[in-house]
Amino acid sequence: MVEQIAEDVYWVGAVDWDLRSFHGHELSTPRGSTYNAYLILDEKNVLVDTVWGPFKEKLIENISEVIDPSEIDIVVANHAETDHSGALAEVLRYSPDATVICSRMGEKNIRGHFHSDWNFRTVSTGDSVGIGGETLHFIGAPMLHWPDSMFTYLGEKKILMPNDAFGQHYATSFRFNDQVDQTELYQEALKYYVNILTPFSSQVSGKIDEVLELGLPVEMIAPSHGVIWRREPLQIVEKYRDWAAQQPEERAVLLYDTMWGATRRMAEAIGDGLAENEISFKLIDIAVSDLNDALVEVFKSGIIGVGSPTANGEVLPTVSSLLTSLKALKFKNKRGFAFGSYGWSGEGVGKINQELQDAGIEVGVEGLSCKWQPTPEDLEQCRAGGKEFGRIFKA
Ligand code: FEO
Repeated sequence: MVEQIAEDVYWVGAVDWDLRSFHGHELSTPRGSTYNAYLILDEKNVLVDTVWGPFKEKLIENISEVIDPSEIDIVVANHAETDHSGALAEVLRYSPDATVICSRMGEKNIRGHFHSDWNFRTVSTGDSVGIGGETLHFIGAPMLHWPDSMFTYLGEKKILMPNDAFGQHYATSFRFNDQVDQTELYQEALKYYVNILTPFSSQVSGKIDEVLELGLPVEMIAPSHGVIWRREPLQIVEKYRDWAAQQPEERAVLLYDTMWGATRRMAEAIGDGLAENEISFKLIDIAVSDLNDALVEVFKSGIIGVGSPTANGEVLPTVSSLLTSLKALKFKNKRGFAFGSYGWSGEGVGKINQELQDAGIEVGVEGLSCKWQPTPEDLEQCRAGGKEFGRIFKA
């Protein structure tokens, strides 16, 4: 259903209630998502972003409720990823002479996706385009989260359209932040930040400072996924500033896989030791847990324990997958350690330690290992180790 979000500005996107994984199967999306596209009516009619290809008919249907799609003069493509550019060809089928405004890198990426010679106009920070009463201002936002990403700011209506930034994978009946469950909203906003934007946290901080220094009044932040920030719109900017600083809480998360329970028993004993030092902890069996949700717990926690039995000289594949994600997301300000059981060769703990270091996580201890099932002495050693990790963290 089309929603008018301001005078002459309409949400014409799509709600994807059924989406359960995004980026193929890289990111779990249990609450679905939305692909937000915005139609601005003026002397020149502008569409800001499109939707994912499977929803192109819905986009055209929504635009048609407001104007004939052939009356679109400009399409702003803030970002070339296919969940926003996927219906570009369909829109331009109706209005083939429309100008496609995007960043320089955006043009390269869109050409790479569509291999079409459309009427491109590239813009960068400081450029603006008058469309009648309204003026579109453009702010380059490279690596938030692709090199081509940019923001569009409606100068008269004071609406910031930052594409992926400040978004959430969150399908809802209503379009605004004050109309939805706040706990769900922030769970999804944080999960989105952790899994998509964490590696670019320094760029996030820099871009927030840059935009705030411009002194632009912002009455609404309209991202490309999830709800529009209408009530206290800068609340999500403040959250992003906090998240980008990556100052984890005084808590631990112990992530492990286990074959016959030995590594799990070690994790439990380590947790007991942490608790003795009043460090709260969570145990996550990564084999039966959602990886993206587990990464949110990693993001929140200052201490990261990773455990795996050694199997055929390696860690278990679930733990390898976790370690790959830790390296990719480049978390900061964390201390880590490894643990795990083994039968004969026992390489797992050393391999985890190396991977944690490669991920930029400080490893200050050797790690804990035990042969076969842990003895009472092994468990006591794990408990003492957990207590020591807690002491180091609190120091
Ligand atoms: Fe980077 Fe929502 O696409």
